Amino acid sequence: MGIQMKGRSILTLLDLKPEEIRFLLDKAKDFKQNRDRYIQSEPLKGKTLGMIFQKRSTRTRVSTETAMAELGGHALFLGKDDIQLGVNESLSDTAIVLGRMVSAILARVFAHDTVETLAKHAKIPVINALSDQFHPLQGLADILTIEEHLGKLKDVRIAWIGDGNNVCHTLMIASIKMGMKMKVGTPIGYMPDKHIIDYCNTNASSSGQVLVMNDPIAAIENADVVVTDTFISMGQEAEKNEKLKEFKGFQVNQELVEHAAKNYLFLHCLPRHKEEVTDDIIYGTHSVVFDEAENRLHTVAAVLNSIIQ
Ligand code: CP
Ligand code: NVA
Repeated sequence: MGIQMKGRSILTLLDLKPEEIRFLLDKAKDFKQNRDRYIQSEPLKGKTLGMIFQKRSTRTRVSTETAMAELGGHALFLGKDDIQLGVNESLSDTAIVLGRMVSAILARVFAHDTVETLAKHAKIPVINALSDQFHPLQGLADILTIEEHLGKLKDVRIAWIGDGNNVCHTLMIASIKMGMKMKVGTPIGYMPDKHIIDYCNTNASSSGQVLVMNDPIAAIENADVVVTDTFISMGQEAEKNEKLKEFKGFQVNQELVEHAAKNYLFLHCLPRHKEEVTDDIIYGTHSVVFDEAENRLHTVAAVLNSIIQ
């Protein structure tokens, strides 16, 4: 039997087997190549997605609303000031009510257990659209972008330079599942969570491996792909001054990328700030950040079309 994902939640890439990630990447490529066919056939006609956003978003919101429209379904934007959640109603009651009305929920939250609670009570598929721990939709777009530009994932050498949080965790898991070799360079104190490092160590193979270190030059050495993210994640604004001091030496700039492979690719999930990457790199010839942003649309379309029943 082929891959069957209807009714599934995606809270982290840990929820997906390598062959399911492969299936979603191939679906995303099909959507990208045959968008008009999907628009005509409306596979999600009559389906509704409830989108809870506790934080701001450009790419995640626009890609998801666009994908639902192009697949023939409807997306409801439920921002923090629009629904009772968080002010006047519990998370579990909100989940039960949405679960009786919509076909699936997509949620951008602070604490990861919020999406777990939604999935537990809603009894419909829940997609994590960014939590403090994971950003699975971003991870799918990132590996699609890498595969499109390098023609493969297996044995690709990725360097993460920056904060070891949600997007980093997601690429660490993707590296183990899809056979990439990742080096994570973070300041001491901003390393990935222990349970993610333990997962990577336990599940490493001859190709899928993750090494965590605190030296950006060692992390970027010979990398085929260089990735960073904001140093100040949403909700951490009060820590800005302290974090900027701690992240000194971790800016992706010309001096640092001299250590990467000659034809390296540069990725960033965006939004971007100058402290983590200089203009010449993000707007330079190695950068694929806008392909990566566009791929958020194709990958979320693949996810929605695969899991909504
Ligand atoms: N990369 C990303 O998730 O962007 P948004 O915050 O704009 O959705
Ligand atoms: N690490 C960032 C990712 C934004 C898409 C944040 O959590 O704000």
